[in-house]
Amino acid sequence: MTAGLNGAYGSLRRKEDARFLRGKGQFIDDIELPGMLHGAVLRSPLPHARIVYVDTTAAEAHPQVEAVLTGETLAARNLAWMPTLSQDVQAVLATDKVRFQGQEVAFVVARDRYSARDALELIVVDYEPLPPVVDASQAMAAGAPLIRDDLAGQDGNKIYDWEAGDQAATDAVFAAADVVAVQDMVYPRSHPAPLETCGTVADFDPISGRLTVWSTTQAPHAHRTLYALVAGLPEHKIRIISPDIGGGFGNKVPIYPGYLCAVVGSIVTGRPVKWVEDRSENLMSTAFARDYRMHGEIAATRDGKILGLRARVLADHGAFNATAQPTHFPAGFFHIFTGSYDLQAAHCQVTAVYTNKAPGGIAYACSFRITEAVYLIERMVDVLAAKLGRDPADLRMQNLLRPEQFPYTGPTGWEYDSGDYPRALRLALDMASYDELRREQARARERGEYLGIGLSFFTEGVGAGPKKHMDILGLGMADGADLRVHPTGKATLGISVQTQGQGHETTFAQIVAHELGLDPDDVDVVHGDTDRTPFGMGTYGSRSTPVSGAAAVVAARKVRERARIVAAAMLEAAPADLEWTGRAWQVRGDPAQARGIAEIAMAAHSALELPAGIEGHLDAAAVYDPPNLTYPFGAYICLVKVDPGTGEVQVLRFIAVDDCGVQINPMIVEGQIHGGLADGVGMALMQVLAYDEDGNCLGGSFMDYLLPTAVECPSWELGSTVTPSPHHPIGAKGVGEAATVGSPAAVVNAVIDAISPFGVRHADMPLTPANVWSAIQGQAAGPGQATR
Ligand code: CDP
Repeated sequence: MTAGLNGAYGSLRRKEDARFLRGKGQFIDDIELPGMLHGAVLRSPLPHARIVYVDTTAAEAHPQVEAVLTGETLAARNLAWMPTLSQDVQAVLATDKVRFQGQEVAFVVARDRYSARDALELIVVDYEPLPPVVDASQAMAAGAPLIRDDLAGQDGNKIYDWEAGDQAATDAVFAAADVVAVQDMVYPRSHPAPLETCGTVADFDPISGRLTVWSTTQAPHAHRTLYALVAGLPEHKIRIISPDIGGGFGNKVPIYPGYLCAVVGSIVTGRPVKWVEDRSENLMSTAFARDYRMHGEIAATRDGKILGLRARVLADHGAFNATAQPTHFPAGFFHIFTGSYDLQAAHCQVTAVYTNKAPGGIAYACSFRITEAVYLIERMVDVLAAKLGRDPADLRMQNLLRPEQFPYTGPTGWEYDSGDYPRALRLALDMASYDELRREQARARERGEYLGIGLSFFTEGVGAGPKKHMDILGLGMADGADLRVHPTGKATLGISVQTQGQGHETTFAQIVAHELGLDPDDVDVVHGDTDRTPFGMGTYGSRSTPVSGAAAVVAARKVRERARIVAAAMLEAAPADLEWTGRAWQVRGDPAQARGIAEIAMAAHSALELPAGIEGHLDAAAVYDPPNLTYPFGAYICLVKVDPGTGEVQVLRFIAVDDCGVQINPMIVEGQIHGGLADGVGMALMQVLAYDEDGNCLGGSFMDYLLPTAVECPSWELGSTVTPSPHHPIGAKGVGEAATVGSPAAVVNAVIDAISPFGVRHADMPLTPANVWSAIQGQAAGPGQATR
């Protein structure tokens, strides 16, 4: 591995691939412990029912079964309910009622996995069915069945009403505007569907009182604290190990009932217990994303200057409010919904409701609810363009924030760090040969072919904290880094964030190597083990680089400053007379008098007399509380072809220009963007977690819940601009899955553009052939609604 020309940044191959490509990764299901037992969850077939009784006698008599847990067993330990990430409670195993299909009712622990599954069938549950409600507006209607009768004072299904922005100022802008465009839209329920499902191995040692939990978690330290709080176990005796993770996308942020049952199962049996869910369990019961019904209104002048934006949202949170959000904002970051434009005023209202569907509402490949917000504004800009008869690229260019407006504070209080939005859009337009594309579209239409060109521009806010504005269950969103420099100058960096495929072992090594003049091969990154890494809030919402990456930079710079003092002693010079060359400390202007980190580290550990205040090593630690989010952005253009006879959509081209500030590893950034774009195309065209009116989940397998493959994806055409973030010590902005935020709107805008000659103004995701065909026919089908 050779370092790039510019220090250690550059497209290095991922260190992780050495084991992954050889099939040597270690995932939860690879873990085998002596005497290990296996757990299986009994799930409710009904979406809403009172539990009359649960009889486990026959299951307990199964020769391979070691224990059976029910809600009653857990209630005796005060563990039948657990807190969610949104200050609600969620049943671990149901005691009173079941509230969604697939809810956890009992847990069997047996000597092998097959017996555990077999024994589930021996459990008898007497359910008294209750009417289910799976539609958010029906849940709000008078007389709707009350889902959360466990909550004191809850007399309907509303969870909260929340608003942001200035309503009076927005109303005034709308009253004075020449043009107002209005659109209803649905961002349907989708599921992150990581290829590795969720699972855990819990091992409680009754002698030492230590609990070791191997778990598919994106946030090992936060989970440890929650286990301590929920189970009443001392935190220092809990060790969470997050081994290799086969994708998370937000799905592995929450604690699931199966994890807690495995822990209790281990405590009860005195043996390790493994529980790994299957695909249907993952899709039906773990955290979903989106499920927002949105009403948007946009106000503008006759010549296209956008003035104001209003949004009303009905958010379906399922049976328990388990949405992952920084607690100060119940709808996450939705109120960043003015997007990338310079508006005078904006106001949004979000109403959240309970329904008989699985809980969740996590940040699937985005920062909390920003995908929904970007979708709303980017559809509204297109609806406005159609109303004004304007070209959507031209209208965007007219209204984008200009570089000189940064740092920019939006009408709902978000302060964007930096950006050159017109440059990114211009680059995308050039890459697409936009004008020529429009001419080609006109020619195609004359031939009866339906080509559509769709644009979207997005700004994402990533890297939560700062602590003063955001926390989860009272835990501030800062992250630590511990850097040890060994006597020979090799280094080990401990980090609190948790890769699920993002390549942290490579990029974090590059960061430290860049700061200390080392080779990235000389830096090992340790993560995923609470005993070996500093506290922090984990990886989601593209927070690793902005928060933990910054902590790594700060720790490395502390090491460098300590090294300067040691180098000064070695060179018999004053520290102030030394300069850092990028690879060594040298006496100013004298390259012959220089010492690199390896020599300095050895000297620090040697008998050399060190100046006061310098102990015998260079190690340093840092905790980083970011002053603000960072704001990556991008301009996307999608070209589709629609078959008006079948409604089939083919994505022909996708041009994506992203700006995530300084890139540490452009090849990894590119991979992140490829994944995010595929996610976005999937959401736009095929991914929906649907329910029938009886509350049956219709997306319980990959036969029904469709994910995009290479067949549905074009060869991505990527471009980038670099606008450093002033909030980050190296100017990086998180990129994570930002592409998922921007891409669905580009695809939907392209499809609407293609079928607009039929008078179609809007159709809801997913744009399956049936939905597109129905939109062309002026009918509504599936979850999609056509608007003319
Ligand atoms: O939190 P998560 O790792 O998902 O997102 P991120 O911090 O945005 O980083 C995703 C991956 O891209 C990490 O390996 C980063 O270090 C890398 N990255 C980069 O190389 N340059 C950037 N400017 C941003 C991220």
